[in-house]
Amino acid sequence: MMATGILYGVGTGPGDPELITRRAWRLIETTHVIAYPVPDTGDSFARAIASDAIVENAIEIPMVVPMRTGRAPAQSIYDTAARTIATHLDAGNDVVVLCEGDPLFYGSFMYLLARLKDSYDVEIVPGVTSLTACAAAHAHPLVARNDILTILPGPLDDIVLAEKIAAADAVAIMKIGRHMPRLKALLTRLGLEDRALYVSHASLGHQRHLRLEDAPDEAPYFSMILLYKGDDPWIS
Ligand SMILES: C[S@@+](CC[C@H](N)C(=O)[O-])C[C@H]1O[C@@H](n2cnc3c(N)ncnc32)[C@H](O)[C@@H]1O
Repeated sequence: MMATGILYGVGTGPGDPELITRRAWRLIETTHVIAYPVPDTGDSFARAIASDAIVENAIEIPMVVPMRTGRAPAQSIYDTAARTIATHLDAGNDVVVLCEGDPLFYGSFMYLLARLKDSYDVEIVPGVTSLTACAAAHAHPLVARNDILTILPGPLDDIVLAEKIAAADAVAIMKIGRHMPRLKALLTRLGLEDRALYVSHASLGHQRHLRLEDAPDEAPYFSMILLYKGDDPWIS
């Protein structure tokens, strides 16, 4: 019986192709079936990051995922993608799924993993996350000593955010986008706005890294707020 292929969940890092790991690059270059998420408006960020490593005659499986604010995108998209990927795995071909940042850190790869992990061999190639890329942009430590880092999705409501921020030593707020004015107002109410940092498009040529006070109210999807509540020698 023919062996089935391996499903690889491959982190492409936060944007700069130089932050793709050597292992990820080698796998992308040598695998002929490449899947990746694509928003319904615009190009695939994961594919753009890895484009130089994708061979010309690769079979590409774009998974068109609507950009919605709801909890989970239409599961039927992942059902269909999983079926397509399974066909290639059954034929003995390996499949690489490109994932921006790290596949298991707020990554949509989990939807494919859940559908395929019991039937196929799966390997994950971790990637540089946006979290560490944003800290790098400011050359500011995320956490130190016994600090507790809390990672919060921006769409959570203010009551939950305020509670979690109060309990944390350091905070990263992700998925900011249209929530930026509300998040700025919340941090101002909590007396923390002047301690917070903002980053958009970390590691890319058009990266912006500013103090939150100086950041625009219109934030792109690929942006983050970092907040260090301990004694901070970096923010005076
Ligand atoms: C669905 S999560 C994906 C996270 C990704 N898997 C990772 O490991 O970083 C998307 C969020 O990650 C953050 N993000 C991803 N790439 C970023 C970048 N280059 N610069 C700033 N934030 C980024 C943003 O907060 C964005 O809303």
